[in-house]
Amino acid sequence: MIALGCDHGGYELMQEVIKYLEEHGLEYKNYGTYSTDSCDYPDYAKKVAEAILAGECEKGILICGTGIGITIAANRYEGIRAANCTNSFMAEATREHNDANILGMGARVIGVGTALKIVDTFLNTPFSNDERHKRRIAKIEH
Ligand code: RB5
Repeated sequence: MIALGCDHGGYELMQEVIKYLEEHGLEYKNYGTYSTDSCDYPDYAKKVAEAILAGECEKGILICGTGIGITIAANRYEGIRAANCTNSFMAEATREHNDANILGMGARVIGVGTALKIVDTFLNTPFSNDERHKRRIAKIEH
């Protein structure tokens, strides 16, 4: 189960992500926002972070205008490793190295094609399970 959250800046790109997930038969829970009305990105970062920490969802996708604010907010929750990615190399690396559990994206930064490629890579790349990466992640999760 994938937790989705965005603010007004990310709303339209999130509709494309939802289409992608549905076309691929992937289950998701949409924690909003549900329109382009102005709202506060930390509220949606919180909902998605809590869904993951509660074990309701394994991974999350957060979108705001830049991807920055919503990713910063999510990373304030212990156990969340959110990565703002602008290309699929970053998405692959953050799964393999950081075992990132939330993908952040900026709707005003990247196009739909790039975003969907990032989503695909993020969802399909496993953590490397490499000892050195596990050690480094353990140092984050103090
Ligand atoms: C909203 O205008 C914008 O600040 C937000 O979407 C995001 O880019 C914040 O980091």
